[in-house]
Amino acid sequence: MSRILLFGGSFDPIHLTHIKLAKEAKRQLKCDVCYFIIAKNPRWKVTSVSDEHRLNMLRLALEDEKDLKISTIEYELNQEISYTVDTVKYLKTHIFKDDELFYLIGSDQEQKLDRWYQIDVLSSLVSFAVFLRKDYPFNQENLKKYNCIVLDNVADDVSSTSIRMLHNIQTKKAVLDYIAKNNLYYMEILHSYLKDKRLAHSVSVASLAYDLAENNNYSPTKAYLAGLLHDIGKEVGKEKEDYYMDKYFPLEKTRIGRWCYHQFIGSYIVEHDFKIEDEDVLEAIRYHATGKENMSTLAKIIYSADKIDPLRGYDSSSLINECYKDINKGFLRVLKENIEFFKEKNIDYENYYTSRCLNYYLNQKK
Ligand SMILES: [Fe+2]
Ligand SMILES: [Fe+2]
Repeated sequence: MSRILLFGGSFDPIHLTHIKLAKEAKRQLKCDVCYFIIAKNPRWKVTSVSDEHRLNMLRLALEDEKDLKISTIEYELNQEISYTVDTVKYLKTHIFKDDELFYLIGSDQEQKLDRWYQIDVLSSLVSFAVFLRKDYPFNQENLKKYNCIVLDNVADDVSSTSIRMLHNIQTKKAVLDYIAKNNLYYMEILHSYLKDKRLAHSVSVASLAYDLAENNNYSPTKAYLAGLLHDIGKEVGKEKEDYYMDKYFPLEKTRIGRWCYHQFIGSYIVEHDFKIEDEDVLEAIRYHATGKENMSTLAKIIYSADKIDPLRGYDSSSLINECYKDINKGFLRVLKENIEFFKEKNIDYENYYTSRCLNYYLNQKK
């Protein structure tokens, strides 16, 4: 007899908190394995991408996770409405006959457990294990009535909605790659700002920024987010460029050339259209073209990833390797080589921010 943890959800898409919760609950309940039961036709939710995409992402995310498995039973049963009780009944009768079953839910679900279809039958088949979700206090009556096991210290700080909206994209790299490749969720929004080529560059910078961050002890998903959005202000058109700069960045407009406007416009769009408040992300976007003095780790990652993006068509592998090893040193080399590149091409790179950046990092006084 094994102890089996069941975790139902639409996983639209799967994120890091799902995985953390499953592992933590499995540990606390001393279960042997956790099955993610991917929902087919849930009663309360409409999913935003196809069943196939959700399943593919779940597979990618759980690929290297020991004891976290996937059950596609609801896909196979394919009922008009997939009631949990029917799914569990089937599993208990055909697959886990002699096993003890636990069912993982959040307090958002626990609050309305009494309204679940055939809840009395379901609660005779499983023990509910409940984790507390922010803003959803437990329903004490339900906790007692259905003998719920309350899990310790399990918080839920990411949601699938926040990933779909591109607010907080804490999921695995393989899932982010899949979303980008298949144009899911936020990719459609990005398409309305950027043409194919620029979006491909943005995805490539995001991916490189993720890896650089991971190697330099910085949040990889935050770096991915900043990379993905760094050029979002680049294709608004001349007229709108002037509008944004005159209205929101009049001082900056006097300090830089038009080719750098997009860093400020981008940070404005990210803050106001995408509602991203993280100052690290905003600052990294705001100075990714010019650089500035005293840059944060993320600002160095984005500045560098943008210049050494493999899609730029030159061999940047040694610069990439240097940034992997140490972003502070790598950034300095990228900065130097970028200035050489500007000089060679006769590009007027000198402006208030770049001069301050060079003065600060390379001690080049004008
Ligand atoms: Fe840019
Ligand atoms: Fe760029």
